[in-house]
Amino acid sequence: IPVTAFDLVVFGAAGDLSLRKLIPSLFHRWRDDQIPPESKIIGVSRSAYDDQSFRDLALKSFREFHPQEEISDEEWKKFSEQLFYKELDVVSDDVDWTPLCELLDTSGAKQRVFYLALAPDLYGAVSANIDRAGLKSPDARIVLEKPIGRDLSSAKEINEAVGAVFDEGAIFRIDHYLGKETVQNLTVLRFMNSLFEPVWNANAIDHVEITVSESIGAGTRASYYDKSGALRDMVQNHLLQLLCLVAMEPPLDLDPDTVRDEKIKVMRALRPITEKNVRETTVRGQYHRGASNGAAVPGYAEELGEDSDTETFVAIKANIDNWRWKGTPFYLRTGKRMPERFSEIIVHFKEIAHALVQNGKAGIPPTRMVIRLQPDEGVKLLLVTKDPGPGGMRLRYVPLNLSFAETFEARYPDAYERLLMAVVRGDLGLFMRRDEVEAAWKWVDGILAGWEQDETPVHPYAAGTDGPVQAAMLLDRDGREWYHGQ
Ligand code: BG6
Repeated sequence: IPVTAFDLVVFGAAGDLSLRKLIPSLFHRWRDDQIPPESKIIGVSRSAYDDQSFRDLALKSFREFHPQEEISDEEWKKFSEQLFYKELDVVSDDVDWTPLCELLDTSGAKQRVFYLALAPDLYGAVSANIDRAGLKSPDARIVLEKPIGRDLSSAKEINEAVGAVFDEGAIFRIDHYLGKETVQNLTVLRFMNSLFEPVWNANAIDHVEITVSESIGAGTRASYYDKSGALRDMVQNHLLQLLCLVAMEPPLDLDPDTVRDEKIKVMRALRPITEKNVRETTVRGQYHRGASNGAAVPGYAEELGEDSDTETFVAIKANIDNWRWKGTPFYLRTGKRMPERFSEIIVHFKEIAHALVQNGKAGIPPTRMVIRLQPDEGVKLLLVTKDPGPGGMRLRYVPLNLSFAETFEARYPDAYERLLMAVVRGDLGLFMRRDEVEAAWKWVDGILAGWEQDETPVHPYAAGTDGPVQAAMLLDRDGREWYHGQ
């Protein structure tokens, strides 16, 4: 669907997110004819560039971050005629915004969007300055990158400050997982197939696993990451969003607020984790020196340059105290420097009530549904079947396999491509509402306080492994183990 023309102002345009993700995504949308020629993309930061040197920087970064992609100088030149740059200290009170104002359309014909690719503690001040400079047109929208704060109280402060300038309906809080193809597909899979919904509950499902495993380390981001850790960086947003989409009740329709109302009910039903149960429900880990893809890699503290008790791995047993999920735990796990990069949701159905055929030591594995979010996106339903042949009833566990790459030939747009266009279109459904973010922080704050009071240890794990052994024990105590493929 073509979008209307827009002026998109990217604050923090010379930063990593902008150069690595935002501008390349906009280029892809332009290549697909989704950016009307009157639209302007205006980069703003304190760095001293002009239009041309910024365009050159953006191209250099594009080639660095997307080395496999062909892009000619000529094609870039055409795209970059819509790319502008203004040097501006946006938090300072006595800076003249006129040069930026002059670039923006005042006819009201274009959608105006401000994208804050900045540290969250600046969101309030920048919003106020946008207003002061008279740039807040009636339909202007603002995009906030995660994290919104570092706990409930800072999130509230940010939401208040931005909310003092922009209405909730104009605030687009990014969780880029919501823009991923396979994450969007979760809702379709669950609610547009009659097979699943009748068994999508604690009667039929034994437990659910959500794993977001990364092979990269904190690397050059270590000093930023150290203030955050895996719980704040990944669980508060991405993993909880996935949990909500798997666990929520069927929404009445796909109206953004209808879906967000259902998600927040799940967050509110999460059993609190406090110092009383934090040891038995969570595991913290930090990678030490090890190997990644066959090469030796340093430990987290070496990358950071000092000792730290920030977790780079976390595993959590989450319980949802409502009718649908009572007694079915959701095990969440995410970490850096694990063996490979993949995100998966595994729905483990209950064991069959009575086995007609014995299967020796292997037993009868339960039905499992493996939703592979990335890479090699797909859905597998693992079923027990008879091994073909005359040799009697031998059983085999095989997947009914839907591989997206084999089934669809489409290119998967980066999440940011979809999200940026959704902002221009005004589709709030892919973004987090204020109460959702705050409910997620409330639950996470309980864990953070629990860790502090309990002095929960951060267990070491060698880079390139599945996290500390305590994570395996978390499931072992319940007679379960993390799914490791089949
Ligand atoms: C970001 C986190 O939100 O998500 C990063 O801040 C993490 O630490 C990244 O690496 C993972 O995103 P993806 O899309 O690569 O799974």
